Amino acid sequence: MRVSIDRDRCSGHGRCYSLAPSVFGSDDDGYGTVLVAEPEGDLVAAARTGALNCPEDAITIDED
Ligand code: F3S
Repeated sequence: MRVSIDRDRCSGHGRCYSLAPSVFGSDDDGYGTVLVAEPEGDLVAAARTGALNCPEDAITIDED
């Protein structure tokens, strides 16, 4: 699995890093960042939770 955030779509809602702080963080302006680009184990579910809850659909999950 690979996780990425489309910087053009992210508008800083913060749900990703609020719901899944093990995978997502925030920059100084509150926009989402990816902390773990290739999550494994429990982080896989966390990554999916973040992606599903982004109102802008800015998070892409690429399955290997
Ligand atoms: Fe951005 Fe979506 Fe997270 S808008 S801060 S990627 S919930």
